[in-house]
Parts: sequence; structure tokens; C-alpha cells
Amino acid sequence: MDAIAPPTTLFDDLKPRTPAGLLSRREKDRLIERGFLGLYRWYTARSQATRNWNPDKSFEWRKLRQDLSEPLIQILQGFFAVEYFTPDYVDEILNLVRKSHGRSHFQLRWGAEEEKHADTWENAVLFSRRRTPEFIESYKEDLRSSVHRSLWEGDALRNLVYTVFQERATQLNYLNLLKIARGKSDKPQHKGDADPVLAQVAQTIAVDEAAHYNFFLEGVRLFLYYYPQRTLEAIRDVITHFTMPAHDIVPDWDAFNYAVYKAGVYGPREYARDVVQIVFRNLGIESRKKLEEGIKRGRIVPDKRDEGTQQTAIWDSFDYGLIEGDVRRIHDKVIAYEREIGRDEIDPLVFVPNPEWPQK
Ligand SMILES: [Fe+2]
Ligand SMILES: [Fe+2]
Repeated sequence: MDAIAPPTTLFDDLKPRTPAGLLSRREKDRLIERGFLGLYRWYTARSQATRNWNPDKSFEWRKLRQDLSEPLIQILQGFFAVEYFTPDYVDEILNLVRKSHGRSHFQLRWGAEEEKHADTWENAVLFSRRRTPEFIESYKEDLRSSVHRSLWEGDALRNLVYTVFQERATQLNYLNLLKIARGKSDKPQHKGDADPVLAQVAQTIAVDEAAHYNFFLEGVRLFLYYYPQRTLEAIRDVITHFTMPAHDIVPDWDAFNYAVYKAGVYGPREYARDVVQIVFRNLGIESRKKLEEGIKRGRIVPDKRDEGTQQTAIWDSFDYGLIEGDVRRIHDKVIAYEREIGRDEIDPLVFVPNPEWPQK
């Protein structure tokens, strides 16, 4: 997993015949790399066909209300700040995954979509007329005076896992803002914050975040399928230390954090209920307790983590059958996509089943 297979090895053996759990690390890495490449190409085609919007031209900015509440503006400004660090987010991950075609190129695609979010939130703040262009300019200067550093610097797997939780948390933030913009908030400070333009913005960006969440989720499922023990450990570490990106370098983070908390947009309750529980369900993990127990049991098996039958110790800690079904499903989608363009005739993507796990 540490070394990503160079492209030439992708063609060594087009049809692996060994069950997933018994494959060598090199073979697992090759399959993960091929899976990511297919997933990235499939994602890009869908992204271009269904989410090709523009931050300036897709919204009627002149119609944005000019009397939105101060707590709401604080929230929009915070959303802008977090998205504004996109070049840093891309930069740090890109260097980690640069040997992987699918992962490195996806990072650019992802960054291009996140950059649109920053531009859109900036427009929201600017057209609200509640902050002057001069204020926004100096705010941006303040933001860019710091460089974002991931907590999981140098660790590609933990960064991948982190992104799953972060994308879900971001999507949740925007969906809860959407409620406010639709006039459905029960908080007194947001009673007068209904705005159709803002609602369209929040919905559009939330759809992007859902797509990001799904891409990274499929990526983590691939790792969970081939390397369950170390992926579960990564998940445990990430949830233990999870914080929103850039929280330590956005100058007015406390005010933003307070505004999202008071608005019921995001806080510890939302994180536990609507982020961790959702991701766990999507990864077949029953609970944090089960996750911890599984990791401990896995550790009892000496040395050969994730190697063939050695996996047995952790199979109880999560629903491996569910993951296998999900990995198979995404393979089917990508295989159908590659058939559509004819790639299957030259370089077919192949799903490798794992009959070794004890089916319940
Ligand atoms: Fe975003
Ligand atoms: Fe995103």
C-alpha cells in the first residue's frame, strides 16, 4: 500500500484469479490503483454532465437580499474562509498521491470544484452588501497569511479517511444552511433569513459535497476491502481527532463556530449523529465500541496484518459482506462506463471477490 504500482504493472495480468484476501500486497495495490483510475474517470464524466455550474453566472446575485442577519453573514464568511484554503488542501494531498494516476488527477478535479465553492461563498458575502470589498480583500490577506497543514501530514490513508468525514460534515453544514435560506429555521435570529438565491446556492454546493463524499467513501471502501485492519485503525484515529479544516487558522473562527452552533447548523451533536453515524453506516461499522474491539483483536494476530486468513480476527468488527457488496456495485458501474467507451476491450476493470471471509 505504501508504494503505488507504476503504470506499467497495470498491464502485467489483466485478470487476477486469486481471491482478494489472498492477494499479495503488490497485487492489492495494483487493484486499488486501477479501481481509483476507473472511479476518477467515471466521476469526471458525471461531474461534467450534471454539475457544470458557474459561481458567477449560475445565480442571480443582484437579487440576493441585502438585509440578511449578522449571524447569517458570519456563517457565510466562515464557509468562504474554509473553502478559500482549497489550494493548500490540494497541494498537501497531491504530493502524497502523486504516483497514483487516479488519485492525483482526481485531486485536481476535486480542487477545481472546491475552488468554485470559495468563489460562490465570496459572491454571497459580497452581494449581501454586508461586507465591503475592502473588508473582503483584507480578510483574504489575513487568511492567506497562514498555510493550512493537515493533522495527518504525510499519511495518505488517514487523509483519505479524514476527507470522507470532512465532506459529510461540510455537506451537512450546507444542508442546514439551506433550511435557513428556505425560511425553515426555528431559531429566532434566523426568522427573517429566507432567501431563494441563497437557497439555490446552498443546494448547488451541497450536491457537489455529496458527490465528493461518495467518491472518497468509495475510495475508503476499496482500502477497507483489501486492507481492513489498517483502514479500521485509520478510521478510529480520524474520528478521535476530528476537527473542521482550517479551524486553527481562520482569524474569526470562534465567532463563526458560535454562529453555526447557535443556528443548529453544526456542532458536536450534529457531528456525532449526522456525520459519524452516517459514515459508520456506509462503512458497515456498527459502533465505535465495536470498532475499538475489532482493532484490538486484530492486533493480537502477530505481524501479518491484512494478509489472507490473518484478517479473520477483525471480521466481526464490521460488516465485510456489506463492503464487498458496495465495492462490487461501484465496480459494476465503472465497468459499464468503460464498456460504453470501449476501454473494456483493451484494459478491462475486474472485480475480485473474496470468498475467504466467513459469511454470516
Ligand atoms: Fe466545498
Ligand atoms: Fe467538498
